[in-house]
Amino acid sequence: MNNDSSFRIVEELRTWIATAPPGAKLPSTRELVARHAASPVTVQRALRTLTTQGLIESRPGVGTFVRAVRTAQPLDYGWQTAALGSPQSHIPTGSATMRPTPPNTIALHAGYPNQELLPERLIRTALSRAARSSAAVTRSPVTGLPDLQAWFAAELAATVPVGVTPPTVGDVIVLPGSQSGLSSVFRALVGAGQPLLMESPSYWGAILAAAQAGVKVIPVPSGPTGPDPDELARAFEETGARAFYAQPNYANPTGAQWSRAGAQNLLDVVHAHGAFLVEDDWAHDFGITTDPSPVAALDDRGHVVYIRSLTKSVSPAIRIAAIIARGPARERIIADRGAASMYVSGILQAAALDIVTQPGWHTHLRGLRQQLRARRDLLIDSMNDHAPTAHLTGIPPGGLNLWYRLPDTIELPRFVRDCETNGVMVASGTEWFPAESAGSFIRLNYSGINPGTFPDAARIIGHVLTQAS
Ligand SMILES: Cc1ncc(COP(=O)(O)O)c(C=O)c1O
Repeated sequence: MNNDSSFRIVEELRTWIATAPPGAKLPSTRELVARHAASPVTVQRALRTLTTQGLIESRPGVGTFVRAVRTAQPLDYGWQTAALGSPQSHIPTGSATMRPTPPNTIALHAGYPNQELLPERLIRTALSRAARSSAAVTRSPVTGLPDLQAWFAAELAATVPVGVTPPTVGDVIVLPGSQSGLSSVFRALVGAGQPLLMESPSYWGAILAAAQAGVKVIPVPSGPTGPDPDELARAFEETGARAFYAQPNYANPTGAQWSRAGAQNLLDVVHAHGAFLVEDDWAHDFGITTDPSPVAALDDRGHVVYIRSLTKSVSPAIRIAAIIARGPARERIIADRGAASMYVSGILQAAALDIVTQPGWHTHLRGLRQQLRARRDLLIDSMNDHAPTAHLTGIPPGGLNLWYRLPDTIELPRFVRDCETNGVMVASGTEWFPAESAGSFIRLNYSGINPGTFPDAARIIGHVLTQAS
């Protein structure tokens, strides 16, 4: 009711303003209240809307006036073309996976788990506890709250085999999500113009961060158990690269997991080339049929720079992650973090720590495993039933996504558009390839929406595939 009245007042005033001279004084709030039989709150809301739209301005103690400068024409930003010059390289502005979902559309394109897969009760309790703690009013140390650093170090240390020195609290740098950590690592350890090896396909955000850092990405083909060590060795030798970005556990988009033996072989190649492995452990909490096995646990010589995110498992709103790095590399990364953001919100760190140290956290993770398994299998079954010409590249042992190859005759951009027109958003695989894609792929996320919609989604995908073939 109030919203309707405020809308009506806005419309009437807009009509009046359209013919009023700049600087004309609006009727007082009291007059507007009387004229529109509305409450003062409703009138104030209408005035705020008009202010936001740039049509009026209020001068405290004097009144509200029609703005003197009104935009009759589109604003001209042409001067920026000259000031900015050409971009260093073509950098995409974002990913289609971050697009909002229109109403009545089934969203399989996005990457974030549904609220029902989050530890909601733990989150709300932790946030209110953190709000009452000193973390709410103090600055966090640059590398993070010591107790949270200790938690990240201890989690990795728990998987370190005998004979390898575990990481320490001082090796941990807390981050506001791992995305900005990737940017820091690429800037600090690789640098503009230098080569970086990357599994292909790989996370679009890593490709984007590398492009933004001016790093030259060299793809290394990767399969269901990771890249071939000989192929990796050849890429190091041919390019002179000193860093390799990879996701050994539940890779986005394929869900691939390196085998134990494979991980050791690949790490040996990294050692032999005096290089860094940038290990992105984004899906550590999303094992379904296996447990994650960080490669960083096998290295105590500072070759592995480990990035562990809590964003998707704790809460996208709390968004905490950490880098574990040793030696001078750690110092370089801290210097970059200082320039990028100085420190991470202490209240969010305190809340994240609270959540992952509750007994309920492990109970939650056990339940999550079952739910992800049920969702993954339902989407696979639905696709088998309704879209049999889409080929699942492998049943992922963990993660949040399925990676399908479509028949080569499919024109991918059109397929994705047609799916959306018919009510399903899927992610075009093109974004996950650092160079040309090796076929027509789509990524389907099984964590983000109500699984009851999976059969309908698969039916639509199958229909669009049939139409397009
Ligand atoms: C592989 C991978 N790394 C990093 C990130 C970014 O994580 P965060 O949300 O912690 O910044 C994502 C997010 O989707 C991801 O898929």
